[in-house]
Amino acid sequence: MKKYIVVVLLVVIVGFAGILLYQNFYSSQGTITEPGDNHVGGGSNVLDYNYTPVGIHITLVKFSPLTYAFMWITQSPTNLSVVQFRYPNGSETMISGVQIEYKNLYWHMVTVSNLTPGLIYKYRVGDPELAMSNYYFFKSLVENDTLVFTVYGDQGINKYSRMAVDSALNFDPMFNIHVGDLSYGGSKVDIWVRWLRIIEPLAATRPYLVTVGNHEYDGAGDLSDMNIYFPSAEPSYNYWFVWSNSFFLFINLGPHDDAKLDNNFYGWINESLYYAKEVLKLKWVFVFLHYPPYSSGISHGSSPAAKPLLELFDKYGVDLVFAGHEHNYERTYPLKNGVVVSRNVSTYVSPSGTIYIVVGGAGGGLYKNFVEPAPEWSVYREARYCIGVVEVSGDRVVFKAVDTVTGEVFDEFEIIKK
Ligand SMILES: [Fe+2]
Repeated sequence: MKKYIVVVLLVVIVGFAGILLYQNFYSSQGTITEPGDNHVGGGSNVLDYNYTPVGIHITLVKFSPLTYAFMWITQSPTNLSVVQFRYPNGSETMISGVQIEYKNLYWHMVTVSNLTPGLIYKYRVGDPELAMSNYYFFKSLVENDTLVFTVYGDQGINKYSRMAVDSALNFDPMFNIHVGDLSYGGSKVDIWVRWLRIIEPLAATRPYLVTVGNHEYDGAGDLSDMNIYFPSAEPSYNYWFVWSNSFFLFINLGPHDDAKLDNNFYGWINESLYYAKEVLKLKWVFVFLHYPPYSSGISHGSSPAAKPLLELFDKYGVDLVFAGHEHNYERTYPLKNGVVVSRNVSTYVSPSGTIYIVVGGAGGGLYKNFVEPAPEWSVYREARYCIGVVEVSGDRVVFKAVDTVTGEVFDEFEIIKK
């Protein structure tokens, strides 16, 4: 039974928000280390951490780019759940939150709003009288800058899962997006803890945003576990946020990749895209969902559940759609009404279609076989452990597919929109 233990206190000791030096970011950041194989985030000793925060991760709350939730786990209940910011002059600010008991662990969350854009924050979490984590740094999101974000799906808890994290860190993204099938833990809480420990170096140093895959429904059959392990301001995990000239839309199509789309849900997606393009008139629209609208993999292939969305992506000129589910990499030409609108491979100037990308190679085992011959819409497909890296800079978006084992950029293209 869930039990809310603490909801109190806020201590503010002086606040001076100066800019910390960003150099030494990675060399000085703290990590939770433990005996055994650090590639599985805990090895056999996964529950041996008592009051020490583990699995520290940040996500956006209410999908404001400047309101973050800080989350972590302890094995024992603490008196306080606190995020402590430390500033260059030695002053500190502490903000407290809540903890929930779930499956014999304590899940802590602190919400911090009104972050100063573009500031480097140094922080740690925990209970000051019992145990605090090491320090981490993050840079709060800032508008009108070049945005780099990373994206991957289908991760799990093996050594390749950690390689996805390390590869993403190499690009120092402003945030990371997971397109579903996170830990494959189902109802096994220890798997979820191990996954959270694997992603911690990435997820504690920038927002880690998730959409839901079919395996998030394993175990309980609904999202009740997921809402504890990786809560979202929207419990259905359907949400969006705006960053500068870009719209990020997260769609959860549920536990089955051939489910029929609900009319109300279709309406919400339609309204969201209308708001992005017709009201806000944003230049770039990125969509994230688990089931790929286009895939020539033989394990799942193109998702029937995603098909009804294609007309909306066409109508509003969505630029890039990211998915997983197929554990491999594939990228389409720009498509409209199912037809290839450009045969260019690496540069697209104001294309009139949407490019669909599968990045399902974050660790969950590879699906190596594709339909032969390749469909005419498929530009590049390969079974590799991989992540996607996206750079948004004004009128230009550059996408790179990166092999997480070799570091090689094995596919790349740019879109220029005047
Ligand atoms: Fe999946």
